[in-house]
This record gives sequence, structure tokens and C-alpha cells, in this order.
Amino acid sequence: MSNAVVVENIYKKFGRSQASLWEQFLRRGNGSSHPGNNGHADLPASADLNDVKGARPLNGNGSQDGHKRLVVAVDRVSFTVQKGEIFGVLGPNGGGKSTLIRLIATLLLPDDGFITVFGYDVVRHPLQVQRLINRVSVEASFFKKLSPMENLLYGARLYGLEGGQTRRQVVEILTRLGLDRRSINNPMEEMSRGMQQKVAIARALLTHPRLLLLDEPTTGLDPQARHAIWDLVRDLKKQGVTILLTTHYMEEAAQLCDRVVFIDDGRILMEGPPAELVAREVGREVMECWNYPPEAHDWATRRGLRHEESGGRLFLYPGEDESATADFEARFQHQERLLRSATLEDVFLKLTGRVLRD
Ligand SMILES: Nc1ncnc2c1ncn2[C@@H]1O[C@H](COP(=O)(O)OP(=O)(O)O)[C@@H](O)[C@H]1O
Ligand SMILES: [Mg+2]
Repeated sequence: MSNAVVVENIYKKFGRSQASLWEQFLRRGNGSSHPGNNGHADLPASADLNDVKGARPLNGNGSQDGHKRLVVAVDRVSFTVQKGEIFGVLGPNGGGKSTLIRLIATLLLPDDGFITVFGYDVVRHPLQVQRLINRVSVEASFFKKLSPMENLLYGARLYGLEGGQTRRQVVEILTRLGLDRRSINNPMEEMSRGMQQKVAIARALLTHPRLLLLDEPTTGLDPQARHAIWDLVRDLKKQGVTILLTTHYMEEAAQLCDRVVFIDDGRILMEGPPAELVAREVGREVMECWNYPPEAHDWATRRGLRHEESGGRLFLYPGEDESATADFEARFQHQERLLRSATLEDVFLKLTGRVLRD
């Protein structure tokens, strides 16, 4: 059996439904055979239902592609995740991260390309794949009135796990994640988002997945909760779990990931280990300036210094030019500025001309 997760030339497009809720209701009511979606577990996001521009004909049930706006969510993406790795998929909102995760999780079918999870093809052997994986999405749902214990026991039963052994395992997992006895048995709705996210991960661990798919595991969490999740992910790696996570937090990727891919508009822009990408693409340091005069920019251009402008900031990348920052500071003494270490954020800026910060 292969010891890797292989994603090869994956292509996935969505025909965005442009019908309003009202039209969809009518269409269902008049017995049209068109189901209005592709029959997969992932129905069009609710945002799409608000999109009523250019609504397609009510009774049209032939080829409606002309009236649909096609969105290529994943555009010929390839990468390999080795067993035991933490692999990061980084990119902005709408980049295609969740779609990619759903494809690997057998929740969506690719239009082209193939994915194998430790040797099993997601399209031909979905059941085998499902036994090896679990997924935690950013919108993980619970019975809010029930406790973490009750939610996990319920989840366990869905997987056919039962009995005292499971109960012991639930306590063990939740305790390891830092939940005390009291919060294990209190309603979920009384817990912080960070704790709830931990419970979501705990639930995914019940089945001992060999591949854990974490879709934006720390989005919306405060820094403390984020660090707790990071510790947990590192722990899982030590236990040999392979982890594929998506994030738009560059620091998260730098902290956790052995390797990352940048994805934007469904396409992979670059792949590599975080530190290596930063060193190779950006260098060691960045001088970040704000409220700067045009001369600062011109100075960098004349000197042949790599620089970017985005969000009202000027980013100077000295690279090999070791005296650049000292010369800049001598020339623009009162310039508001910050000299800092280069990060993955700078790599993204270089690749796209955009910053990705919150
Ligand atoms: N079920 C769907 N139906 C239609 N369009 C979708 C669906 N899921 C995702 N998309 C579109 O595909 C693109 C990628 O979305 P997604 O994979 O959710 O990105 P990310 O997770 O990086 O924010 C977006 O343009 C999004 O609107
Ligand atoms: Mg997403």
C-alpha cells in the first residue's frame, strides 16, 4: 500500500445556481426532473442562493450551462503528502481549499484527475478511504445542549463504536485536550469556540484516522486557543498521524507545516518547506514602511532593490544587498518603518501582489 496521499491534476468546477430561492421552490413544485444540484453531499453554499443575477429559465431542464456561471474551484492541482507529514494548503478565501479537502474526503467527485489516500482511489474505493480519514471543518456542528461527552458518544455510535471502552476513550481524548471533568459533562453551548474546536478534533480522533483533514482549524479563534490547537496538531504528528490542513494564517503554516502549497484561484502557485520558501523567495529581512514619500519608492527602484507596494505600505527586500537598510535609514531618517524577519506572508505578496493578513 502506498504511504502517501497523492493528488494528481485535480480539476473541479461548479455550475453556480443562479436561481433565487423562490424559483427553486417553484421548480421543485412543478415536478421538474432537474434536481438543482449535482447530487453530492455538498450543496451549493447558501451564498449562492442569494445570487439572483441572470436567473435561468424556470422550465428549462435541458442544457443550462449557458445560463450558469461556471466557477473553477480547483484548477489542475497536484501534490503529494508523505505519511507522517503536516502538509499545509495556504490561500485566501475562495482559493479552493475547502473544495480540495472535500474532494479528498470523498464528499465531492473530481471532474478530472485522481486522488489516492494511502493507495486507495477516492472515486473507486470511497469506503476504504473513509475508513482511513476524518475531517474537521471550520463549521463543525454539534448538539449544543448536549455535553462534549454526549456528542462524542453519539459520534462514536455513528461509526459503530460502542460500550465502556468507547466511553473511556472519550474521556481520555478530551482530558488530553485539556477539558476538565466538569466541562466534559456541561452543555457545549457554554464552552468557548476554542474548546468547541478541540471537541470537534477529538470527535475526529475517535476513529483513529491515519489522515486527518483540518479545514481552517483555528479560524476565528483567539491566540491562546490557536496555540492550544497547534500543540494538539504537533502531538498528533508525533503519534504518526498524517495531517493535511488548510489555513489563511501564514504564521500557522510556518509554525506547523513540514511543507506547504500556496493556492489562489484554484491554482497552486508554489510548493515547499516554509522556511526554505521564505529564504529562497524573500531573504532574511524585510523593511516595512508606511506614510512614506514617493522618493522612498524611487530610491528602491534606482538602487535595484526588490520592493512591493500593497495596502499603503512599502515593503523593501534587501536580500543580498546587505547595506541597503542602513543606507535607507540614513537617507530617510524619520521614515516610519519596521525592520522584521521575512515570513510566508512576504512570499504570498511576492506571488500575488496582495497581502493576506486579517
Ligand atoms: N458547492 C459549491 N457550489 C458552487 N460554488 C462553490 C461551491 N463550493 C465552493 N464554490 C466556489 O468555489 C470557489 C472555491 O471555494 P472554496 O473551496 O470554499 O474556497 P476556500 O475554502 O479556499 O475559501 C469559490 O469561488 C466558491 O464560491
Ligand atoms: Mg474554506
